[in-house]
Amino acid sequence: MRLAAAELVDSREILPDQWLQSYYAPSLVAGARAGQFVHVRTGDYSGLVLRRPFSFNTVDSATGVFTIHFRTIGRGTEWLKRVRQGEPVDMLGPLGRPFEVDSRSRHLLLVAGGLGMAGVRMLADEAIRAGRQVVLLFGAATAGEVYPSFLLPDEVEYVVATDDGSLGHHGYVTDLAPQYEAWADQAFACGPSPMLRALAGLAAGRGQRLGVAKLGRKRGAGRSAPLGSPEARRKAFLQVSMEQNMGCAVGACLGCVVMSVAGTPQRVCREGPVFAAEEIAWESGW
Ligand code: FES
Repeated sequence: MRLAAAELVDSREILPDQWLQSYYAPSLVAGARAGQFVHVRTGDYSGLVLRRPFSFNTVDSATGVFTIHFRTIGRGTEWLKRVRQGEPVDMLGPLGRPFEVDSRSRHLLLVAGGLGMAGVRMLADEAIRAGRQVVLLFGAATAGEVYPSFLLPDEVEYVVATDDGSLGHHGYVTDLAPQYEAWADQAFACGPSPMLRALAGLAAGRGQRLGVAKLGRKRGAGRSAPLGSPEARRKAFLQVSMEQNMGCAVGACLGCVVMSVAGTPQRVCREGPVFAAEEIAWESGW
């Protein structure tokens, strides 16, 4: 974890009230992995200073530039969108635990709801670079909120669902997931909790059947990986990146806790934000 003055390189509105910003900060980019985030010190017009978490949306380790994707929903993000090119912004990162891809996985299913795209976007780049095939399912309320396909690598198969049917599948993105379940070696998701809960339900039992889980039996038969470990994530069919509100983002305030199936609180900022889906007690309501 490092503190840096990240310099704004570019800022553009890619959807109504949704911004994509590029920052130059080689020290933050070094070693950053998909699923991790930065904690950004934002000011507001009352003089209050707060930090807010943003996933690494893309990272270019050669140039030291990374992007974040956010919606303007309050004074902090209103402040952020008005930062000018060349201005420094105080950021802390990389924070959190990343996605873990099994080295044998060839087919990755990514599922994103709304701003959850920012949580899985970098993983698409990493997977394509590693020669994997990627299907990305994306859900939005309406066509006007669909993440632009030109911002994705050409190699990604991009499938859209909208609640009102104005683009792609008419319905929830979770409706699409079963079509790809047999194809996928592993799945990775980020979005609202109901979406993640539904996907976790679909994925339950998958570990006994196909893909990496089957290969995993050869490798680590009968051995269960410790809760929260990279191995537990790597062996899971579905990994989820949780979108909890955060305060400190360094594990001190307990404002971001979810419950594990073992009944132990898990801090999304420290033990997450990425978890194996079967580690989370989805019905506990936190
Ligand atoms: S945000 Fe404070 S413990 Fe996670």
